[in-house]
Amino acid sequence: MQLPDEAITYQYQSLLPPPAEEWNLLTEARAKQFLSATRLKALAQQIMQVRSQVATERELQNPPPELRPLDSGFIDLPQKHLDNHRRKGEASDLGKILKIAGKLKELTDRVIILGIGGSYLAAKALYDGLVHSYHNELPAKTRMGVPRIYFEGNNLDNDAIQDLLELIENSCVDPDIRDERYGIIVVSKSGGTLETSVAYRIFRNEAVKYYGPSSELLKQVIVPVTGATGKLRDLSKAHGYTEEDVLTIPDNVGGRYSVFTPAGLLPAAVMGLDVRALLLGASSMTRRFLEEPFERNPVLQFAAVNYLMTEEHGKSIRVLGVWSKKLEALGMWYDQLVSESLGKLGRGPTPLTVVQTRDLHSRGQQHQEGSRDKMFNNVVIKTPRTPPVNVAMGEHNEDELNQYNRKGYPDFMGAAYRGTTQAYLDTARPMADLVMPVLSEHTMGQLMQMLMLATVIEGRLMGVNPYGQPGVEAYKRNMKQILKNG
Ligand code: PA5
Repeated sequence: MQLPDEAITYQYQSLLPPPAEEWNLLTEARAKQFLSATRLKALAQQIMQVRSQVATERELQNPPPELRPLDSGFIDLPQKHLDNHRRKGEASDLGKILKIAGKLKELTDRVIILGIGGSYLAAKALYDGLVHSYHNELPAKTRMGVPRIYFEGNNLDNDAIQDLLELIENSCVDPDIRDERYGIIVVSKSGGTLETSVAYRIFRNEAVKYYGPSSELLKQVIVPVTGATGKLRDLSKAHGYTEEDVLTIPDNVGGRYSVFTPAGLLPAAVMGLDVRALLLGASSMTRRFLEEPFERNPVLQFAAVNYLMTEEHGKSIRVLGVWSKKLEALGMWYDQLVSESLGKLGRGPTPLTVVQTRDLHSRGQQHQEGSRDKMFNNVVIKTPRTPPVNVAMGEHNEDELNQYNRKGYPDFMGAAYRGTTQAYLDTARPMADLVMPVLSEHTMGQLMQMLMLATVIEGRLMGVNPYGQPGVEAYKRNMKQILKNG
């Protein structure tokens, strides 16, 4: 398969033993902590079978009880969106999403996205990763019609919601002025999650007061995104929405796998992101997953290496080291994906996101010399999107920075990354790299689809169902009972 220039790769070769002639004390230490080539080869065979099984599961209309829940709809969804959009245009799901996003952008200058867990983290990862870091502070002209974005309904923090209410109250005074109008996207697949529904009731009431109870604007600036059935859908009907006005998260796509449903795509489109590039990236990853042999298949490689580290090398903590501040939320998204998909039956790695170089100054010591219970996966962006910020010659050189006169942030980041990799490998701490040529919609689409597919493969290898999250229900049940008891 011809790979696009922006194809992401997984580089784990430093975890394999070196040729016999390079054997020394360090390589011996690594042999204990790192991978065995023979074991990996055997697992590569097995993993190809698991891939076939996962590919077959996509076709099952009526899955057997041991496979339920089976939410494999996310695998083919990106390509389906693209195909349907090409065929049906505005009448397709993607067409509808783009139209609604266009309306929100035209009518409002602030959009509040309400949702939690899988109905929040993907949108947040896309926002932090791909939108200007100071987007909300930029002048309207520089934002080029993209509204300011806020996230709520992802917590039960009174002070946080008060702050946003206060901001809206102070900055939105005249509903006739576009720049003083706000919209709401409320996302909940079940439609009954307390954090989201309480926040929705509060912000909707505010909006009704602001625009007027019979304002036509209400239905245009408040967009519900939910499953085929549930309280939010019923509530939307009661508010006068038609089926057409409510965007649907398909039944066969689970919350944390829902980035390429309206749960992720509508916020992405409102943020001004190139949604097609996102989907193209994701669909190219599905193709690589289904068609490529192990040697060229980052999904299978990532799943195999990390499975071996967790299950056979005692690396119970899985660190995602993101070498860009902009990817911290992507790490939070992956934390959820791993926790809810693999943390079952007393099993599964504990995910941990670190942002480099920031966390070298906090967790770095423990990671370098602490307990040997970690597998490190870096996410490395090869080329920054923006021109390098360089150090200039200074009249005073007490800080001794003149020696770096021709160097800039990419050089410092590169040196820190190489220095860290070397230091970890020198002490036999297992580390591998997910390499993104650039940070773009296309590479984010690939990366997110890759991590979702790899998580499913890993779950199947471990013998745990990567879909469903029965454990999350326990706290919800207790909380509702406590609230009921007063
Ligand atoms: O992955 C999941 O399904 C969960 O994390 C949900 O996304 C989360 O609990 C929010 O649920 P809902 O979208 O139903 O409000």
